[in-house]
Amino acid sequence: MAQSHPCPPKNSWKSKMNQAKLHRLVSDQFREKDSNALFDLRLTTNLSLIQHLFFSLYAEEEHSEAFKKLLNQLPKLFATRPDALKKQDVQRLKDGNWYQSQKIMGMQLYVEHFNKDLKGLQHKIPYLKELGINFVHMMPITTRPKGESDGGYAVNSYHEVDKKYGTKEDLLELTSEFRKQGIFLMLDFVVNHTSNEFSWAKKAMKGDKKYQGYYYTFEDDTIPKEYEKTLPEVFPETSPGNFTHIPEMNKWVMTVFNTYQWDLNYTNPEVFMEMLANLVKLVNMGVDVVRFDALAFLWKKIGTISQNLPEAHNLIALFRMCLQVVAPGVVLLAEAIVAPTDIIKYFGEDQKEGNECEIAYNASLMALLWNSIATKKTQLLYKSWAHVPPKPKDCTWINYIRCHDDIGLGYENNLLYELGLNPEMHRKFLLDYYCQRLDWSPATGQVFMYNPKTGDGRITGSAASLLGLEKGLAQNDPEMIEGSIAKIIMLHGITFAFGGIPLIYAGDEIGTLNDYSYLKDKSKKNDSRWLNRPMQDWDMIAKLDDEKRPQAKIFHALQKLIRIRKENPVFADCNDVQLYHTGNDHILVFERSNSKKEGLLVICNFDENPQVIETSWVKKLGYFAQGDPKDLVSNKKIEINSGLLEVLPYQMFWLQRA
Ligand code: GLC
Repeated sequence: MAQSHPCPPKNSWKSKMNQAKLHRLVSDQFREKDSNALFDLRLTTNLSLIQHLFFSLYAEEEHSEAFKKLLNQLPKLFATRPDALKKQDVQRLKDGNWYQSQKIMGMQLYVEHFNKDLKGLQHKIPYLKELGINFVHMMPITTRPKGESDGGYAVNSYHEVDKKYGTKEDLLELTSEFRKQGIFLMLDFVVNHTSNEFSWAKKAMKGDKKYQGYYYTFEDDTIPKEYEKTLPEVFPETSPGNFTHIPEMNKWVMTVFNTYQWDLNYTNPEVFMEMLANLVKLVNMGVDVVRFDALAFLWKKIGTISQNLPEAHNLIALFRMCLQVVAPGVVLLAEAIVAPTDIIKYFGEDQKEGNECEIAYNASLMALLWNSIATKKTQLLYKSWAHVPPKPKDCTWINYIRCHDDIGLGYENNLLYELGLNPEMHRKFLLDYYCQRLDWSPATGQVFMYNPKTGDGRITGSAASLLGLEKGLAQNDPEMIEGSIAKIIMLHGITFAFGGIPLIYAGDEIGTLNDYSYLKDKSKKNDSRWLNRPMQDWDMIAKLDDEKRPQAKIFHALQKLIRIRKENPVFADCNDVQLYHTGNDHILVFERSNSKKEGLLVICNFDENPQVIETSWVKKLGYFAQGDPKDLVSNKKIEINSGLLEVLPYQMFWLQRA
């Protein structure tokens, strides 16, 4: 799966050299292509960092034996890596930052909601290819408790495939087919917690002290009460508090998410080493990107909110540095849905720069897009983006408009104040707008996890339903339907063009509506995120030739935008996104450019009325150097007569500077 390096070498060498680049250099320098020799070189290259990170977490006086054990463990883990993947690792090192390529286009899916099981998914590869998808985030597929399991995020095992999805052989067959067809696979590593049925939890419940030490367990609630003073609640409606009393062992255990998800105790180095082994088993099944689930929560400290702590960063970098020695072709995605300034830190800072996670969710852009739709204005997006620190050159975003989770309203209060908005009232307005409390709003979402103690709430709903398609169809309102189609296309188009890996939630490409069937399922009805995890509608997909259908319009428009993205290197992420103010608060403009002077100017209107922008500055950027510029979306040259460019409601231009 050779992918040429998307950014010109000159550009990329300007950045600080991270360990991955050092490995590339080292493996190029040495003629020796024996994989064991390369492993030794990688270990030597990363060793001092591994040592530093390990002892920053585990005091040397107490844990020098554990460190020796880790050093012993790494070659053993490498020995378990299949030859085909070892070969691919070396090739990936050569290929460079494949994840920054414009050729990558992602889709997130629940296997059972897509096409039943792993074999079913394999069967639908042609559909993925037809749309242009070559990166798949498959939601958890390993064994989990019967009944509630947080969609598999309560894990009973890190590598046993749950039989409802098929067998391990089915998974291996699928990953090998993906490799043949040039499709990258992302799987979750649920690194923060296991289920209460995981073997360690079961042993702990039986009184085994060793395994009780794998979790945060307490004799009574004295220490838990100290933690609770500052810990927020993740699921306040269904799982209030952060500790659960377990009668079987008569102890309290930390359960930050659901009561059946026990937080792992990483202050114990044995936990780190066992989890590293689990991680390697997972990637050895053919995983290209590991989604580090809930990684902000990995380290806990009394008196703090126990998120984004410096020790959590050191721990993640330690995982990264060890995995890089064993499986250098695998990259990490940070699932940190936190403040923009905190997200950036998961790319690594200082010595860790570029050595923590290569990819992170662009949760900031996602939340700001929803704010812009509801307010029809883009000022908060501009203001907030100006506060996002630059990311390291070798790192990239996953850009998305929504995922399987809820949409949180994590805007910075001081910026809301600067815009003259009261943060509390503004959040209430957004919840009202999206969750059916305003008659005039086209959205049909629902409130998720409202916390009366803090007034916080989040939003659930499929993209199409949040953008008005459900209501438009129910009311047979052609204007609302057309508006929603335009919004669905524009929001996706922004994520395709922003720089990074776009990730479409399966079904959004055909405007799938909310799925209310979860209310009939006892194990799901208390979690309204299932509203936005609909079944893939293959009957509808069979009818996409009928161009008049809203679903067909969305599908064909996105398919075309994907094709355009893949054909134009300017879409590759070279850390070049630049926002421009136009003086019109309804408009968003950003530019992408590369060192070949190629440029792409994205212009979007978030208002329901046509808007105009003055264009002399666009000329200065060189877009008219060869006559009127072409809009890649409509494949037409744009004409500007009076010096003003008209942008229709929810229209998106992709102007090309050749
Ligand atoms: C992540 C997942 C979410 C899950 C949580 C706990 O945030 O995206 O779905 O509930 O982790 O594992």
